[in-house]
Amino acid sequence: IKRITTNTLQDMKMRGEKIAMLTSYDYSMAKIVDDAGIDVILVGDSASNVMAGHETTLPITLDQMIYHAASVVRAAKRSLVVVDLPFGSYQGNSKEALHSAIRIMKESGAHAVKLEGGQEICESVARIITAGIPVMGHLGLTPQSIHKFGTYTVRAKEEAEANKLKADIIALQEAGCFATVLEKIPAKLAEEATASVKIPTIGIGAGPGCDGQVLVIHDMLGLNKGFKPRFLRQYLNLFDEINGAVKAYLNDVKAGDFPDEKEQY
Ligand code: KIV
Ligand code: NA
Repeated sequence: IKRITTNTLQDMKMRGEKIAMLTSYDYSMAKIVDDAGIDVILVGDSASNVMAGHETTLPITLDQMIYHAASVVRAAKRSLVVVDLPFGSYQGNSKEALHSAIRIMKESGAHAVKLEGGQEICESVARIITAGIPVMGHLGLTPQSIHKFGTYTVRAKEEAEANKLKADIIALQEAGCFATVLEKIPAKLAEEATASVKIPTIGIGAGPGCDGQVLVIHDMLGLNKGFKPRFLRQYLNLFDEINGAVKAYLNDVKAGDFPDEKEQY
């Protein structure tokens, strides 16, 4: 099997072939996602929410991200594996950012890193790339800044913020990013931003004008009960499926029906 690379993604944009990205945080799930043919697996810092149960992405550490990333890398035979630099591991200065990116690449075997922000992080982006590490950007709703935003609602509805995003995506391209996520911004703005650059845009809640789409796998599988934002398409209701299976097992054990004659030595 041929590995997807950052070059593959740029070729896909040129050909007009959509890029499909999903998150994974562990070996077993990543194996399914890679087998299905997903182009990019994102080891997102959304692990802080869906794996660790935190309210925000802020608490997850670099060591914890590396643990998730290494597990995913062991499963991914074809998908490009991109790993989020967590909050606090790159905002200080570009040397710290490079050090964190190198730790992720060295200790997990991942193929690229992702950072949140625009012009503010361009020096770090450029410095990480000097080490030969591909960088994905992330604009729009950047959850590591939730305490600045105060809410997870749509970003860049006002002209000032939309103009900043348009300048930021050019800056990220110039700094050398191979792609960028656009999260929760108006579809029209995402389409314009996408047309303004050669690098692929991967949207979440950013409409169909992006070069690709990404979802958090727990959300699209319906594991995250009650989480139903407008942008989310839920493909399964795994919470209820698993809940039902667990109840069936529970009842079998309580009733003395499990194990039966064949399920023993
Ligand atoms: O952490 C994450 O899952 C992400 C995606 C939602 C883009 O950054
Ligand atoms: Na993230």
